[in-house]
Formats: sequence, structure tokens, C-alpha cells
Amino acid sequence: MGRALGAVWHRAGHEIVWGVRDPQDEKYADLPGGQLEAIGDNLSKSDLIVMAVPWDAVDSVASALGADYSGILVDCTNPIAADFSGLDHKGAASGAEYAKALLPKARIVKAFNQTGAGNMANADYPNAQVANFVCSSDDNAASVVKQLSEDLGFDTVVVRGLEHSRQLEEMAWLWISLAIKQEHGADWAFSLVRR
Ligand SMILES: NC(=O)c1ccc[n+]([C@@H]2O[C@H](COP(=O)([O-])OP(=O)(O)OC[C@H]3O[C@@H](n4cnc5c(N)ncnc54)[C@H](OP(=O)(O)O)[C@@H]3O)[C@@H](O)[C@H]2O)c1
Repeated sequence: MGRALGAVWHRAGHEIVWGVRDPQDEKYADLPGGQLEAIGDNLSKSDLIVMAVPWDAVDSVASALGADYSGILVDCTNPIAADFSGLDHKGAASGAEYAKALLPKARIVKAFNQTGAGNMANADYPNAQVANFVCSSDDNAASVVKQLSEDLGFDTVVVRGLEHSRQLEEMAWLWISLAIKQEHGADWAFSLVRR
């Protein structure tokens, strides 16, 4: 996910710093722009961090960022149960609200979780635009992330109120269930029609 998103944003002209566990690891050598940083103090100075890690890594990433992180945190994780049977919010209302409890000062935006990484890397479909809901209780943070979503070519809808993040995570589970469990594959996405 991180690779897919960062590569498009790098092409769109954004400065990307890749937050990784071990910046010396050669597997990161091909990341566009090549700016690598260990997840921790320096990264916590970023205005905007995209959290693209497995659900069971959210605690350690939040702890490495520190509870004082007050920038925008884009949460594109999905709280998928370890046995892949559904969602497991670990007692929180949603994964995004779980992250908010760990990082109370962060301006949390739930986005980029509702479709597959292949659609992030390439959102081109004939006669349709991929939908992306950007959900936050912080209108200013949502508008920053809306621009990032439009950079990906998504039809972007801001959803006010982080309490709606759970519905976006359910949407993601529907996409995953159809794509993987019910063999629709990854080359489809939710789209909106209007009149
Ligand atoms: N893949 C998709 O199509 C997709 C779509 C929408 C949402 N998502 C969500 O996005 C998140 C990432 O998905 P993914 O498919 O990119 O997962 P992934 O490939 O399994 O993991 C992404 C990265 O997380 C890092 N990571 C794992 N544990 C970590 C830890 N404890 N601390 C710091 N970094 C850690 C890994 O770093 P290392 O390189 O160091 O191992 C890896 O590069 C998940 O929550 C997923 O549900 C995925």
C-alpha cells in the first residue's frame, strides 16, 4: 500500500519520506525519491504521515511516533482479524478511533482503505472513476487529504465525523471478501453515480 500510494504522489510532485523499520535494508533501495527514515522522532516532525501497516503493527507504530504527534495521520489500515474471518476492532468503535486513542493529538483521517493497492497505483477505468471516501472530524485535515486523493485520480467524497470510519472499514471488508474470498479479483472498485 505504502509503495503504491507513495509512487503516485512522488510522480505528482510531492516530497515523500518513506518511514520504515530499517532504512539500511536493501529492499527499500528502489523507493522513489530514496528518502528513508526510521519510524520515530524525526518522522514525527512530519506534517502528514500515512500509516500503511498491518493492523497488528498499529500499536508499535503509534508508540514509535509518540503520543505527542499532532500532525495529520492518514489511516489506511483495515482492522482485519488475525484469522481473516472479518474485522476485529479490538474493542474500539473502529480502527481509526483506536488510532485516535493511541495518538490523541493527531488529526486522524481515514482514507485509501476502501479499495486494493492495484487501484491506488492505477485508478484508470473506462468511463468511471474510483470512489474514495475521506473521513475525519477535522475539516482542514480532510481537505488536505482530499487533494492527495484527487492526485490518485479518485472521485473523492469528504465524510465529516470520524464516527463514520467504521463504515469505511466495513466497505473495505466487502471489497476484500469479494476480491479474495469470492474470486472477483482486484481489478474492480466502488464508483459513484450522481444526478
Ligand atoms: N494491500 C492492499 O490492497 C490494501 C488496500 C487497502 C488497505 N490496506 C491496508 O493497508 C495496510 C497495509 O497493507 P499492506 O498490504 O501494504 O501490508 P504489508 O505489505 O503486509 O505491510 C506493509 C508494511 O508494513 C510494515 N510493517 C509491518 N509491521 C510493522 C511494524 N511493527 N512497524 C513498522 N512497520 C511495519 C512492513 O514493513 P517491512 O518492510 O519492514 O516489513 C511493510 O512494508 C493494512 O492495514 C491493510 O489492511 C491494504
